[in-house]
Amino acid sequence: MSPTPATAESIAEGAALLKAGKLVSFPTETVYGLGGDATQGEAVARIFAAKGRPSFNPLIVHVADRTWVAGLAEPDGRFDKLARTLWPGPLTLVMRRRRDCPLSELVSAGLDSIAVRMPDHPVAQELLRAVKRPLAAPSANTSGTVSPTLAAHVKESLGTKVDLILDGGACRVGLESTVLDITQHTAVILRPGAVTAEEIAALIGPVKVSAEDPALPKSPGQLASHYAPSLPVRLNASDAQPGEAYLGFGGGAGMSLNLSAKADVIEAAANLFAMLRALDDTARFKGIAVAPIPAEGIGIAINDRLKRAAASRV
Ligand code: TXA
Ligand code: MG
Repeated sequence: MSPTPATAESIAEGAALLKAGKLVSFPTETVYGLGGDATQGEAVARIFAAKGRPSFNPLIVHVADRTWVAGLAEPDGRFDKLARTLWPGPLTLVMRRRRDCPLSELVSAGLDSIAVRMPDHPVAQELLRAVKRPLAAPSANTSGTVSPTLAAHVKESLGTKVDLILDGGACRVGLESTVLDITQHTAVILRPGAVTAEEIAALIGPVKVSAEDPALPKSPGQLASHYAPSLPVRLNASDAQPGEAYLGFGGGAGMSLNLSAKADVIEAAANLFAMLRALDDTARFKGIAVAPIPAEGIGIAINDRLKRAAASRV
C-alpha cells in the first residue's frame, strides 16, 4: 500500500473506508496514526491485529472537536480548562467513560475510562469531520518498532495491513501526545509528551508524573485495574460445569454466548470484553467457562487477556 497524497478526494475515500470498518493511516501533528472507527468493534480488533501486539492496551480516541467528548466521557471542569487552551494539540485526556458510551469496549480494553484527544493536523481533522465518528488510532507501526513520522514509515512498517495511507508530509511534533489521567482528584501524567507538566499545572493546578512515583497509576497494559470479572474464569473448557456460564468460540452446544460462531478471532476480540461483562452475573452463574481460542494472530492477545481474567482471582 503506497501512500496517497491527502486531498479532498482521498480524504473522502478514507472516510468511506473507515465507515466500512477498514483501516486508514492518517497524519497527526505527533505521529501517523493507524485509524479505525471506534464505534465498530471489529475495526478496533483489526487495529490490534495489524499492530501485532501480544496484548490489548487501551487506544486513544480522536475527535474533530471538543464538543464530541460529552457523548463519550464524563468531562469535568478540568477538561474544559485544558481542552479550551491546549486542544487541538498533543494532549490526551483520560476520563471516565459514559455508561452509554457508543464506542467499542475494546477501545478501552475493558477499562471504565477512555482516552481522547483532538489532533492538530488539518488532514486528521478533515478526515474526522468526514467520518463523523471518533477514530481509534495508535501509532501506525508494528508493535515494538519506532513510531512513524512520515507516510513512507507507515508503508515500511504496516505494508498491506492498512487499506489506505494518507500522506500529509512530516509530523511536526514527532513524538506521541502527553497522556494525562484526570479520572481522579490528582491529575497524573501517564505518558510524557510535548505538552509539559508546567503547562498543565498552570491551568488546573498541581499534577503528578506517574514514572516518578511507584504509588501512582501506570499506563495500562499490566494494570490490575483492568476489568477483571468477579466470577472465577476457567480457560480452555470444552463445556460448562453445572452453574457455569459457557463462553463459546466456533461450533458446539450449550453456549451462553459465542465469541464468534464462524470461529473468527477478529470477531472474537471485538466481542470479548462485552461478553465477559454480560456473563459476569453472580445472580445467574457461579463461574465462567471459556472455550479454547486459537493462539494465532490477535488470538494471542485474547488469550493474554483471558489468562489475566482467570488469574485475577487467585
Ligand atoms: O500522539 C499520539 O497520541 C498518537 C497519535 C496517533 O495520536 N497515538 C497514540 O496512541 O500514541 P496509542 O494508542 O499508541 O497510545 C495509547 C496510550 C498508551 O500509553 C495507553 O496506555 C494510554 O494511551 N491509554 C489509552 N487509553 C487509556 C485509558 N483508558 N487509561 C489510561 N491510559 C490509557
Ligand atoms: Mg505506539
